[in-house]
Amino acid sequence: MTHPAMATGRVAVVTGAANGIGLAAVKRYASFGMKVCMADADEEALAAAAGDVAKIAAGGAGDVATVRTDVGRREDILALKEAAYDRFGEVAVLMNNAATRARAGSLDGHEAWVESMNVNLWSVVNGTQAFAPAMIAQNTPCVIVNTSSKQGITLPPGNTPYNVTKAGVKAYTELLQHELRNIEGCRVTAHMLVPGWTTRGGFEYRKGQWSPDQVVDRMIPAIERGDFYIVCPDDDVTPEMDRKRILWSAGDVAHNRPPLSRWHGGYGEEFERFDG
Ligand SMILES: NC(=O)c1ccc[n+]([C@@H]2O[C@H](COP(=O)([O-])OP(=O)(O)OC[C@H]3O[C@@H](n4cnc5c(N)ncnc54)[C@H](O)[C@@H]3O)[C@@H](O)[C@H]2O)c1
Repeated sequence: MTHPAMATGRVAVVTGAANGIGLAAVKRYASFGMKVCMADADEEALAAAAGDVAKIAAGGAGDVATVRTDVGRREDILALKEAAYDRFGEVAVLMNNAATRARAGSLDGHEAWVESMNVNLWSVVNGTQAFAPAMIAQNTPCVIVNTSSKQGITLPPGNTPYNVTKAGVKAYTELLQHELRNIEGCRVTAHMLVPGWTTRGGFEYRKGQWSPDQVVDRMIPAIERGDFYIVCPDDDVTPEMDRKRILWSAGDVAHNRPPLSRWHGGYGEEFERFDG
């Protein structure tokens, strides 16, 4: 491990840490000798996961903090920041990773919209604004990783608030990194994790998926290289397919096609040829 934010003795705070990608990331950080602060809304799952992480951590349970956190609530995020700094005195890695899949369309589902905006988008803004000033003031190398989705880039129809909030995470994190790199002497960098299709905590593996560990395998060296975009393939979708789909999506604007032309009857064949 060469990135100084992920070095022995440093501290990682991860939301959505009781399952899936968040839990796999916490385990990896613990295996590097880092201290970890695990945040999740599911208290029971959080306690069980923390027990597993403590077996990996160099300092056992002493290196593992759990904070029951609903990331959709700003006051919970502020309390998480206080708890992490009170317990460990610094934060080197912040992963704003928790998300909801509350479903709705463009014309319905007010509650799902509010939940998605709070849990998927406000959490990222609030999490960053709560932690980043202290991380910058530490004057040590630090990273903030915000989890978006291909659904926030190519917008496949099906769950509109999820796509909108993940598109918001993309825009926010891009602008965040622009601002951080223009702060003189700032040693904090932002990164955007874009998992492919990945097995979730509590769900059976489905053919084509990557495991959360595979996502973390991809993420760690990407952060070490200084990559901002960490786009993960899976066993169905190759990096080349991702590149083409992202380009096709941007081409809707550039070529004045209808939006989401990939799923528009008149463009389906052209897209299939482009996609190869
Ligand atoms: N799994 C995929 O295929 C996939 C693909 C693209 C992006 N992502 C993104 O990756 C991230 C992690 O997803 P995952 O697959 O590990 O999911 P997961 O369901 O395995 O784990 C999500 C965790 O977040 C927690 N959580 C949910 N709402 C919360 C809240 N309000 N406050 C705090 N914790 C909350 C859950 O309790 C759970 O432990 C998410 O941001 C998701 O949108 C996942």
